[in-house]
Amino acid sequence: MTSLPDDLKRALDDALEQFRSDEIAATVQQLIAQYRAPEGVRSSVLRSDRDVAAYAAYRMPATYAAVRSAMQALAHAAPGFSPTNQIDLGGGTGAAIWAAADVWPSLAAIQIVERERAAIALGSRLTASSTLEILRAAKWKQSDVMGAASVQADLVTMSYMLGELPEAERDKLLLRWARHAGALLVIEPGTKAGYECIVSARDLLIANGFAIAAPCPHQAACPIPRAEDWCHFAARVSRSSLHRRAKGASLSHEDEKFSYVVAMPQAALQTAGRVLRYPQKRKGLVALRLCGADGALSDVAVSQREGDLYRAARDVEWGDSWPPA
Ligand SMILES: C[S@@+](CC[C@H](N)C(=O)[O-])C[C@H]1O[C@@H](n2cnc3c(N)ncnc32)[C@H](O)[C@@H]1O
Repeated sequence: MTSLPDDLKRALDDALEQFRSDEIAATVQQLIAQYRAPEGVRSSVLRSDRDVAAYAAYRMPATYAAVRSAMQALAHAAPGFSPTNQIDLGGGTGAAIWAAADVWPSLAAIQIVERERAAIALGSRLTASSTLEILRAAKWKQSDVMGAASVQADLVTMSYMLGELPEAERDKLLLRWARHAGALLVIEPGTKAGYECIVSARDLLIANGFAIAAPCPHQAACPIPRAEDWCHFAARVSRSSLHRRAKGASLSHEDEKFSYVVAMPQAALQTAGRVLRYPQKRKGLVALRLCGADGALSDVAVSQREGDLYRAARDVEWGDSWPPA
């Protein structure tokens, strides 16, 4: 279960105090409707300070948890990857930089490129309250990502942003930044549309010579039958009281579903597969759906008779690699 870091939670609570909670709750409902519209978000929905505050209250815990989970998968797949700088494109209120600072203490410089002044105002207010120097020193740049010049960066992140761009612009942006990145992480909602955006990015990056470091344990075509299913993962998010109030929700947690891909100029070949669903854990048996290093899907059952392997399977989660190293 992932929660926002305490300093971020406190800063968010403080920032939200200037708004009435019923106004935030109403704005959250408007944002949810806009993000769920079948045509997707095609123009800015984060214009006013209240829109941005509502977005941060209801989405930041979930996007932070999803991005952190994808980054942990990358850290596991590429243990030698130790980024010193990050560029976060369409960074919003900064969930992906908080996640990166948590996963890689090696980071020494962070830049966020974001179009909306109100998002930068809140994002920079939040980072100013961080206990981490690297976040307090983050540089916020107001710009459209299509116009921002590319510079070399160890880690480039596009978190819940690529899908908001017109399709004709996505490939150009992806290739331009992949050529400047030690690792390019793209993450989108774990919906059919989010996966389509990710799998198109994956195909493009492989066709242009990049290697996929995560989540796929192979460089072949995605084996998931397109019309029937889509590749996605889940991060369990703890809901604070602010988060529950903003969403009008009562449960103390939610599962954020996400699809992602990480491309690098080169990546070590993975020998382990990736767990594609919640493992089915029954007495004496764990059933796993895997995407394998051979580029194929398989269903594996690990029984109690397999001793250590079974004990490892009891602990394995959706999105982990399997078998353990
Ligand atoms: C759904 S929000 C995601 C924010 C943040 N990355 C996160 O994961 O929480 C999408 C963000 O991308 C920004 N964005 C969309 N298109 C953009 C563009 N062309 N240039 C710069 N920012 C853009 C929006 O303003 C918004 O802040």
